[in-house]
Amino acid sequence: MKATMVQDTFKHYPVLLNELISIITPQHGGTFIDCTFGQGGYTKEILIHKNTKVIALDRDKKTQKKADKISNEFEGRFFFKNKKFSQLEDLKLKKENIKGIIFDLGYSYNQIKDPTKGLSFNSVGELNMQMGLNDFSAREVINKLNEEELEKIFKFFGEEKESKRIAKNIIQERKIKKINTKILVDLINKTKRKKNFKINNATKIFQALRIFVNKEISELIKGLISAAKVLNKDGMLIVVTFHSLEDKIVKYFFKSLSEKISVSRYLPIIEQSETLFKMPEKKPKTPTLKELKENPSSRSAKLRYMVKKKNFYDFETDIYKKFEYLINIENIGNKL
Ligand SMILES: C[S@@+](CC[C@H](N)C(=O)[O-])C[C@H]1O[C@@H](n2cnc3c(N)ncnc32)[C@H](O)[C@@H]1O
Repeated sequence: MKATMVQDTFKHYPVLLNELISIITPQHGGTFIDCTFGQGGYTKEILIHKNTKVIALDRDKKTQKKADKISNEFEGRFFFKNKKFSQLEDLKLKKENIKGIIFDLGYSYNQIKDPTKGLSFNSVGELNMQMGLNDFSAREVINKLNEEELEKIFKFFGEEKESKRIAKNIIQERKIKKINTKILVDLINKTKRKKNFKINNATKIFQALRIFVNKEISELIKGLISAAKVLNKDGMLIVVTFHSLEDKIVKYFFKSLSEKISVSRYLPIIEQSETLFKMPEKKPKTPTLKELKENPSSRSAKLRYMVKKKNFYDFETDIYKKFEYLINIENIGNKL
């Protein structure tokens, strides 16, 4: 859910909701997995149709309250677990005939606005950035990792061109004081030679830290593989991405399973000539002008989906190899 301010109150806008519903057609019933429950925007829109069932996950335990409410409203048709989607296979879903598995990546408005999470450069106080079920916080990253490690995180996860100078200045600054959100934002503003007048100067560094702290790369890869495995024939995998790094991963995964031979190299040649999934639309769906007007923060959302063609569960993928350079950076966090 990417939402925006409407006067003094705020309204939730589940991103690309109409597009999602037209793909998964819950009006015909079925079981769906909502891997990123958030404020339950997608889940609710599915459950209002009879004969549907939703199993939802979210790593943020603060979503439990909303889940309890929906659970009371749709008794026996909604089940929630405070888990990460990399743990999808723990749910023992093999017996379920799943019609669709949905990932709406990124952060909800509630999370961005939650001062205790410290996700935004406007947050006051401590650097945190943990979405839930994490191993370390951004404070530890900024105050403990060395210059070279920080530079890599900023460069590869934030695509920040001035990563080296920013990392260097962080090391200098932290000799004098512990770095919190405000100190970090001021430091980035002072360090950057090329000022950005369209977005906040700290945007890219904050994106990099959020990806690193939440291990978003391996979470996504594990989640996608588990989802693709657990689906039966005609089951759909739908992903909404929010930044170019995650979109690159999803795009590669979808292409590789729908364009290359993906069944198994151990099967006879005759059975190998098919791909495991098909992509009905090659281009991602993006917000309409109407949605952009109502919710400007939906602007970078992209929805991609693919449909499984076979009841086959153990496919080959080279996605870990392809994105090994990113996983290696993520692994720097293992020492924290
Ligand atoms: C953009 S919001 C989803 C909004 C939801 N579609 C709605 O309509 O209300 C993303 C949610 O995914 C959750 N999330 C992000 N990464 C996750 C992960 N690896 N495992 C489980 N939940 C995750 C976040 O905590 C957040 O609540």
